[in-house]
Amino acid sequence: MLFPELQSLEDFEYIKNLGSGYSSTVDLYKHIQTNKIVAVKKLSIKNLSQSECRKTYDTEITILTKLKGCSNVVQLIGFGFYTTIDNSTRRTKTLNNYFLILEYIDAQPLDKNNERITKQFYYKLLQTVQKIHELGVVHRDLNLNNVLVQNNEPILIDFAFGAVTNGKQKFAEFYGTKPYVAPEIVDGQSYLPYPTEVYSLGVILLELINNNESQEIAAQMMQQNPYKRPNLEDVIAHPYFQF
Ligand SMILES: Nc1ncnc2c1ncn2[C@@H]1O[C@H](COP(=O)(O)OP(=O)(O)OP(=O)(O)O)[C@@H](O)[C@H]1O
Ligand SMILES: [Mg+2]
Repeated sequence: MLFPELQSLEDFEYIKNLGSGYSSTVDLYKHIQTNKIVAVKKLSIKNLSQSECRKTYDTEITILTKLKGCSNVVQLIGFGFYTTIDNSTRRTKTLNNYFLILEYIDAQPLDKNNERITKQFYYKLLQTVQKIHELGVVHRDLNLNNVLVQNNEPILIDFAFGAVTNGKQKFAEFYGTKPYVAPEIVDGQSYLPYPTEVYSLGVILLELINNNESQEIAAQMMQQNPYKRPNLEDVIAHPYFQF
């Protein structure tokens, strides 16, 4: 780890905002001493409770630590929190502002007009998801906002909904982003995580490549019955992806 758990961002200079979602804001910063450029993901104290912030912080640190050195996965550089005082209500509260320091991904849009590049990109994404599963992690929010593009390669980000698992136990919490969420999760059933990841990857496939072959493969991956979906190994071995 480059930095120990930090108590402030005072060693960093703010450069610009990179993006934000419901649960966080991500900004570009420079580490003043080394000039290293990093992305700082600050968990939103506006939208999340303190315990939700803490849970997300712990989850992302645990998972990104497990995925250290894994190619095509954003790398964790550091983390920490600073406190601020909230005077907005009658009772003054101390708030923990949690942040993660991440490798900066200089993301570019994917050239979707080039089928060979798009296919290679998607194939790499399949392999990356297979790899994180092997390392004992499921993402649970696979969608194209959480896959950045760097040099036409996918970089998986946002493990806020991730979990450590060997894939054998069922989960019950609703996680994910519509329309990428598998129907069994939408229906509120307990679910096995791997087939739900295959479902999300089917939606992504259609978004990236829309032709007869991709539609056929995606239809298999997006079957209602999770037990009928192919597993990731089967998808990866499909002749369409052998090039
Ligand atoms: N390491 C990074 N390098 C560059 N940009 C990043 C990085 N991490 C995140 N971003 C940008 O910030 C956005 C939000 O990041 P992330 O998905 O981790 O947070 P989030 O709050 O869960 O977002 P959402 O709620 O929209 O899913 C990303 O979609 C991306 O545009
Ligand atoms: Mg996200």
